[in-house]
Amino acid sequence: MTDNADLAALIRTIPDYPKPGILFRDVSTLLLDGPGFRATIDRMAAMVAPDTTLIAGIEARGFVVAAGLSYALGLGKLMLRKPGKLPGEKIGTDYALEYGTDRIEMHVGHVRDGQKVLLVDDLIATGGTALAGVDLITRGGGIVEQALFIVDLPDLGGAAKLRAKGIKVDCLID
Ligand code: PRP
Ligand code: ADE
Repeated sequence: MTDNADLAALIRTIPDYPKPGILFRDVSTLLLDGPGFRATIDRMAAMVAPDTTLIAGIEARGFVVAAGLSYALGLGKLMLRKPGKLPGEKIGTDYALEYGTDRIEMHVGHVRDGQKVLLVDDLIATGGTALAGVDLITRGGGIVEQALFIVDLPDLGGAAKLRAKGIKVDCLID
C-alpha cells in the first residue's frame, strides 16, 4: 500500500521480540509522531461504514486506535479487556496469538441486540485476538461487519480468517 508508506516508515521493527523468530512491528514510534497519529486516525475514520454505532477496541494497543476513532466520529467505545479488569458481569474468550495465549473479556449488556459494532486494533497477525473479539461481541448480541487495523501481517492469515466469516477487513499498511 504505497499510499500509506509515510505511516509505515514511522513503525519500527524489533527482531526476536518477545520470542526468537518474531519480527515485532512496534507502533509506539508511530504514536510518538503527532501528525502521523492524526493521519492514521483520519485515514481509518474515512473507512468506517456509516451504519456503525459503536467502536470496540482490544486492550491494550487497540484502545489507542479505538479512542481516536471514537473521538473523531463521535461514537461510543467498547473496551474488550484482558482478564480480571472489568468490575461488572462479564463474558470471556481464551485465544492463541503469534507468541502465546491470552483472554479477553467484555461487560454483559454493553452491546445492544443487533447493534453494528466496528472492531479495531493496531495490528492483525494470526487473527486469534480479533476472532475472540468477534466472538464476544456476537455473543453479546452485536453484529461485526467490519474490522479495521493499522497493520496487517498477511502471511499469518488473520485478515483472511475474518474475511472468511464475511467481515470486511481494511488495513492501512501490510
Ligand atoms: C497484539 C496486537 C493485537 C494482537 C494481534 O496484542 O495489539 O491485539 O497482538 O495478534 P493476533 O492477530 O495473532 O491475535 P498483544 O496481545 O501483544 O497485547 P497488547 O496490545 O497488550 O500489547
Ligand atoms: N501481535 C502479534 N504479532 C505481532 C507482531 N509480529 N508485531 C507486533 N504485534 C504483534
